[in-house]
Amino acid sequence: MLKIGVAGKGGTGKTTLSSLIILSLLRENEKPVLAIDADPNSNLAENLGIPQTKSLVEIIDEIEKVKNNLPYGIEKSKYLEIKIQEAIREENGFDLLVMGKTEGPGCYCYANNLLREWMEKIEKNYKFVVMDNEAGMEHISRRTSGNLDILFIVSLCDKISLRTAESISRMIGTLKLNIKKTYLVVNEFRGENIKSETKISLPVAFTIPFDNEIYKLLEEGKGILNLSKDSPAFKSVRKFFNCYLQTGKT
Ligand SMILES: Nc1ncnc2c1ncn2[C@@H]1O[C@H](COP(=O)(O)OP(=O)(O)OP(=O)(O)O)[C@@H](O)[C@H]1O
Ligand SMILES: [Mg+2]
Repeated sequence: MLKIGVAGKGGTGKTTLSSLIILSLLRENEKPVLAIDADPNSNLAENLGIPQTKSLVEIIDEIEKVKNNLPYGIEKSKYLEIKIQEAIREENGFDLLVMGKTEGPGCYCYANNLLREWMEKIEKNYKFVVMDNEAGMEHISRRTSGNLDILFIVSLCDKISLRTAESISRMIGTLKLNIKKTYLVVNEFRGENIKSETKISLPVAFTIPFDNEIYKLLEEGKGILNLSKDSPAFKSVRKFFNCYLQTGKT
């Protein structure tokens, strides 16, 4: 299993990149993929163009309500397993798991621990795990094992966005995460000279051009899974993964 995470400043294109990675893997027949929406304001389903699912946190809330009142004859651990399984939405070649909001009035330590244990177990069933994150990264260590094979930090071309990407990378370095490779991905790229914009220490994996087809699809309420093979954004991401899958190197 190869686990890929996507991080970056708000609105830079994290969810779009996550969808493009999922699409590239599916089109290369690199299945099954587990797509994890770890942003509390979940919109990966919408971005991909599939129906929204019940989140894991919503399901854990439901379990909490009935945990001392389980149907007769069902063991608690079995019941948890069955209910939690409901959080997985099966699509063609991939599954989607939406984590949901944990900032409600209750204590979510229980939920977070349960999530972490369960996720570590199910992730092993997939060839790739692609995780879309919220703008901060702190929750990654709270909610998951924190292991990633590749982390993409997305940035636009402007100085502020690039500097934020660098500081996210530094901040990640201070967390207890085990990340094998961290890359910068420059989104909505129009041929600017990135290195002259600001000091960048992160290696650039690839750039993604602004793509009208993405804009149109999302305007029409369709998702990135419907993107054509000629889409320039899709081509950029596919090229990187083709190379990665062929050589095992990036
Ligand atoms: N390369 C691109 N070409 C065209 N539109 C794009 C591109 N990248 C992102 N967008 C659009 O920009 C908007 C923001 O992108 P996205 O939702 O992926 O950002 P995000 O980093 O996930 O945001 P948030 O921090 O709110 O989660 C979306 O409407 C998306 O469709
Ligand atoms: Mg997003």
